[in-house]
Amino acid sequence: MAEQILVTGGTGQLGRVVVERLRAAEAPVRALSRRRRSSEGVEWTAGDLRDGRGIDVAVAGVGTVIHCATDYRREVQTVRTLVEAARWSGQTPHLVYVSIVGVDKIPMGYYQAKLAAEKVIADSGMPHTILRATQFHSLVRTILAGAARLPLVPVPKFRFQPVDVRDVAARLVELAQGEPRGRAADFGGPEVRTTEDLARALLAASGKGKRLVSVPVPVPGRIGRGYATGANLAPNHADGVVTFEQYLAEQGKPTALRYR
Ligand SMILES: NC(=O)c1ccc[n+]([C@@H]2O[C@H](COP(=O)([O-])OP(=O)(O)OC[C@H]3O[C@@H](n4cnc5c(N)ncnc54)[C@H](OP(=O)(O)O)[C@@H]3O)[C@@H](O)[C@H]2O)c1
Repeated sequence: MAEQILVTGGTGQLGRVVVERLRAAEAPVRALSRRRRSSEGVEWTAGDLRDGRGIDVAVAGVGTVIHCATDYRREVQTVRTLVEAARWSGQTPHLVYVSIVGVDKIPMGYYQAKLAAEKVIADSGMPHTILRATQFHSLVRTILAGAARLPLVPVPKFRFQPVDVRDVAARLVELAQGEPRGRAADFGGPEVRTTEDLARALLAASGKGKRLVSVPVPVPGRIGRGYATGANLAPNHADGVVTFEQYLAEQGKPTALRYR
């Protein structure tokens, strides 16, 4: 029988799609959440990566962990907890970690924590695969939606390569079912686009007929420079297929995975 795969963050935007994909493929899947959950075809387990409660039970007997949970304030600590629990389980599962393109070049707090977490995994001595992805469609939409409510839309001279969580989930599952790779090739959305162009797409999708009158905004400092130089992009790995427009058109439709 195939070894069980643990998906941490099984309720998150990415994790829930990974869980659904594994379930649809009839792979034995266990999913972690801080709360008690239940859903068909998934063994839910409750645990908290901040204090370690329930994590030993979550990792017990699994052959692979796809780590989709994220704790925006304690990323390194939570990854350490996971690695330690995996080590103590005596199973040496394949750890698959999802990170972000540019974490080594853009000095934002969360990115620095992701980079440090990558190192915890790489130095753990456990079989592992680290996949850096570009910004999810939902994040780009959230960033632009606030700006789009203003009469003049401020648009930094950045480019994004938004990617769909379904594309990232498919890649993660593929990596999880293969040999550990260390750092895998980056994974990007199908198109590199300017902020202005994406804001225009968002306005068009809103159907309110609002026209974009953009105001360029310089973003100073090393973070601004990181984005301005395209450190958040993976143009040679435009592997995702779902475009920003396709994603916007689907908003409001129900997602497949339901849990209580
Ligand atoms: N958003 C992006 O643009 C982007 C781009 C590239 C990579 N990524 C990476 O993709 C990963 C998934 O992101 P996402 O947007 O899907 O996250 P998300 O929707 O914010 O979900 C976070 C998940 O983490 C779980 N969680 C939070 N704190 C926890 C804790 N202390 N113990 C156990 N579970 C905990 C939550 O589960 P419960 O609430 O059920 O406990 C939830 O399922 C992250 O590592 C992120 O850095 C994101």
